[in-house]
Amino acid sequence: MQYPYQIPDFDSYKIAYKRSVEDPEGFWADIASHFFWRKTWDKVLDWDFETANTRWFDGGRLNITENCIDRHLTEHADQTAILWEPNNPAEATQRISYSDLHKRVMLFANVLKEKGIKKGGRVCIYMGMVPELAVAALACARIGAVHSVIFGGFSAQSIADRINDAGACAVITCDGAFRGNKHIPLKPVIDEALKSCSTVHSVIVYHRTGEAIEMQEKRDCWWHEEEQIQINAGNLHCEAEEMESEDPLFILYTSGSTGKPKGVVHSTAGYMVWANYTFVNVFQYKAGQVHFCTADIGWITGHSYILYGPLSAGATTLMFEGIPTWPDAGRFWQVAEKHRADILYTAPTAIRSLMGFGDDIPAQSNLSSLKVLGSVGEPINSEAWHWFYEKVGQKRAPLVDTWWQTETGGIMISNLAGVTPSKPTFATYPLPGVQPVLVDESGKTIEGNAVSGNLCIRFPWPGIIRTTYGDHERCRQTYFSAYPNLYFTGDGCLRDEEGMYRITGRVDDVLNVSGHRIGTAEVENAINMHPGVVESAVVGYKHDIKGQGIYAFVVCAGANAAEDAAVVGIKHTVDKAIGPIARPDKIQIVSGLPKTRSGKIMRRILRKIAEGDVSNLGDTTTLLDPAVVEEIKAGRI
Ligand code: WTA
Repeated sequence: MQYPYQIPDFDSYKIAYKRSVEDPEGFWADIASHFFWRKTWDKVLDWDFETANTRWFDGGRLNITENCIDRHLTEHADQTAILWEPNNPAEATQRISYSDLHKRVMLFANVLKEKGIKKGGRVCIYMGMVPELAVAALACARIGAVHSVIFGGFSAQSIADRINDAGACAVITCDGAFRGNKHIPLKPVIDEALKSCSTVHSVIVYHRTGEAIEMQEKRDCWWHEEEQIQINAGNLHCEAEEMESEDPLFILYTSGSTGKPKGVVHSTAGYMVWANYTFVNVFQYKAGQVHFCTADIGWITGHSYILYGPLSAGATTLMFEGIPTWPDAGRFWQVAEKHRADILYTAPTAIRSLMGFGDDIPAQSNLSSLKVLGSVGEPINSEAWHWFYEKVGQKRAPLVDTWWQTETGGIMISNLAGVTPSKPTFATYPLPGVQPVLVDESGKTIEGNAVSGNLCIRFPWPGIIRTTYGDHERCRQTYFSAYPNLYFTGDGCLRDEEGMYRITGRVDDVLNVSGHRIGTAEVENAINMHPGVVESAVVGYKHDIKGQGIYAFVVCAGANAAEDAAVVGIKHTVDKAIGPIARPDKIQIVSGLPKTRSGKIMRRILRKIAEGDVSNLGDTTTLLDPAVVEEIKAGRI
């Protein structure tokens, strides 16, 4: 069998789960033994949630690219590793075999070395979904540099914050990106960001859209020219750097309940084992299948289930540059048909938006190749679940609802496709190695079934977050201090009669807009940068397509006559500070915010107003100025 640790049936799942709890070290040592190590570990696990420290496979030495590429060369050198589908269907598909990928990663790794990038150095990657993005990330890993991929929708200011936080020495970018019928500038955004970054000495630019851009002498260079220099010098081979198991592999910034995004750090060995194990088991990947994950590599889903999970498993991973609705709303299905995709992993927000175009759109494509469907990023509502299962999977393909987070590195709670039972809108059972616990507000564990509470995890799994870059105390406080000896997820959850889990959404001030995590405090900070704004409060509300929409209540200085201009200005300010993904859907200019006598904003009231649930706002008598609530209610958008 290709993966000796692939779980074949429900009974085997139960046995694996039991062993993972009773003998976690033996369980994970067995699985880890199927990877390529330069030196095996001395100790499987060392952990202390009190200080937020976890070490897996300590003392082991390896390079993740040898596991994702080199080890497949003996038998699968010609197999397609990355199948790339461009934004424009008229442009040619690319098939990159494991052998090609090996060559391309080594060549580009030599470019990175030539630029003075070293083991441990941080490299920011800001590119569209081109195969070179995968090559860039893997080349960093090849030489032991730590990549920090930033989603193409973030603004110059957000990029600058992330580059400065990580102290990145180099940036890899593109001139621009194609998205639907748009050209998105990337290099000009980097130029703007770098005005406030002093640590970056090199910018490598991949030529994609051909738009005119400025190149700064000494600092900027072209990807293809640098590769040519290495080819001319005969530098085609690059030995993989030997890394420690716990050396950081990458940083990925994500939003929390404070104003400043955190750099989530993942390790080399533990992350690799977890991404691989969850990929192989949840999707039940079989040799030769095509895995189509529609996420962007700018998010954790792309890291784990376009790159590291599939490649470490020797799979064929399909990378799509475009968007679901261009040239028309059948694009996902056409891509799946064209490449005979076996697995389709996408987000509820995409399903909901495509559902709106009608059942006959997926019916126009031959989707008979699909064997497994997956959902990730937010709770999937029943209607979307059924539509995806019935109209796309034609009731043949099991649907996995995968719950996890940037911080968990890989899937935590999910059914295993066709192996463990599924239940619409339920992530169902935890993966082996994952021990969920529900707690109440006071931190008391809630035992038994048919209960709900805050979701925590009581034991480390290999993919757990190691630290938040440059500020370990922040990691400890955010995830390990709310409840003693538990990792707190920030999610609310219910456990049904059969012990199946359903994640109900965030219980903190984090919104989930189209599957993107956005902190309300972050959006408020951005809005408050607008010179006309005195203060603001941001809450989420139910949105049919996006899952949650962003509703901002804003107090402006001066007369209300300029309201329209203020709204436009505020949107523009948010675009500049964070990016269009954080732009509020609704902005209501108000004369004041509901506050307690001690000055605390009563978000509970604002949330209810935003949801349109104004009949019972609870006790408002403790408010400093109860009249303001009536005004806000009357002006609701
Ligand atoms: C939410 C994405 C319900 C959840 C991998 C979590 C989900 C946050 C699901 C993490 C799901 C993700 N069902 N909710 N299947 N998957 N979430 O870090 O609130 O971008 O905490 O990671 O998305 O978002 P992140």
